[in-house]
Amino acid sequence: MPKVVITGGAGFIGSNLAEAMVNSGWAVTAIDDLSFGSLNNLESIKKDSNFQFVKSDICQSGALDDACKDTQCLVHLAAYKIPRYGGALKTLNINNDGTRAALECASKYGLKFILASTSDVYGKNANPPFKEGDNLVLGPPFIRRWAYAVSKAFDEQLAMAYYDERELPIVILRFFGSYGPHNHRTWWGGPQAVFIEQALQNHSLSVHGDGRQTRSFCYVSDTVRGIKSAIETDRAIGEIINIGSINEISIEELARKVIVLADSKSEIEFIAYEQFGGRYEDVRNRVPDLAKAKRLLRFEPKISLDQGLTRTIEWHKRFARMSD
Ligand SMILES: NC(=O)c1ccc[n+]([C@@H]2O[C@H](COP(=O)([O-])OP(=O)(O)OC[C@H]3O[C@@H](n4cnc5c(N)ncnc54)[C@H](O)[C@@H]3O)[C@@H](O)[C@H]2O)c1
Repeated sequence: MPKVVITGGAGFIGSNLAEAMVNSGWAVTAIDDLSFGSLNNLESIKKDSNFQFVKSDICQSGALDDACKDTQCLVHLAAYKIPRYGGALKTLNINNDGTRAALECASKYGLKFILASTSDVYGKNANPPFKEGDNLVLGPPFIRRWAYAVSKAFDEQLAMAYYDERELPIVILRFFGSYGPHNHRTWWGGPQAVFIEQALQNHSLSVHGDGRQTRSFCYVSDTVRGIKSAIETDRAIGEIINIGSINEISIEELARKVIVLADSKSEIEFIAYEQFGGRYEDVRNRVPDLAKAKRLLRFEPKISLDQGLTRTIEWHKRFARMSD
């Protein structure tokens, strides 16, 4: 039976991927320090004989090394995201030390290595839709949001160096706004997670800035199909590939859609960027070019935003009932 190790396997994308891989006949080991992940996310597979969970910090222990023995593929998802409210050190350190540790393990055991990168690396590039060869236009270091993009750009370069100099079969996937069940229910999980929580409680939906910034959102089962395809095919080795949806929506429109789908009485409150602390720079438009994903991974998202949000709202409601 083929085996995959997933770092960050108790997190949002990791737990959905773990479930999909177990259901497709793979043995799966998920490693997570539970800093943001939760064992609740693994409820459906935790008793499966082909699934193993290891609680460990990937930067600090030999647990990752142990898990990588007798394995075909390492999917590296463990990371810290945009430090929107806190400091940048964890994002910079974990994303760099963790990725180096994961690459070393993959190299030691000759595993295929899938790196989770992000649309944030396109930064302030003003010419969407973004192709994988486009320039990464990042802001200055005194704006801490860029710590995330810088750390992931470094990770990408590091993975490419292992591919070039150590012949490690790597694939870099740049995810664009994945959402769905198991997403963190705070800003860590993205704007849709916060909007759904606020709408279900009939609180105002906090839209940052003027709300006219646009994003594209990809339901997690689609994101997971992209990752699974990258695990299973050799066509993508040595490549960087966008994974997301081409349907752009403004953040204000997203908030209004959530209010309707959640049947909520909430209104929208616009919050100036200065109000949430520190200097901040937002990205105006963000949408991927998916030609390469289609060609190499046969990837095309299938779930519409309305379908995906409806399912996600149901999950948030179930979660709220479980916590009562
Ligand atoms: N969700 C998205 O829309 C999105 C978009 C772009 C990129 N990504 C990338 O995809 C990956 C997964 O994102 P996610 O949304 O599932 O995030 P998540 O926070 O839900 O999952 C990351 C997991 O990594 C774990 N983790 C963090 N530091 C660790 C450490 N030192 N050792 C072990 N585990 C650690 C956390 O506990 C968490 O469970 C990340 O690399 C992220 O940067 C996600």
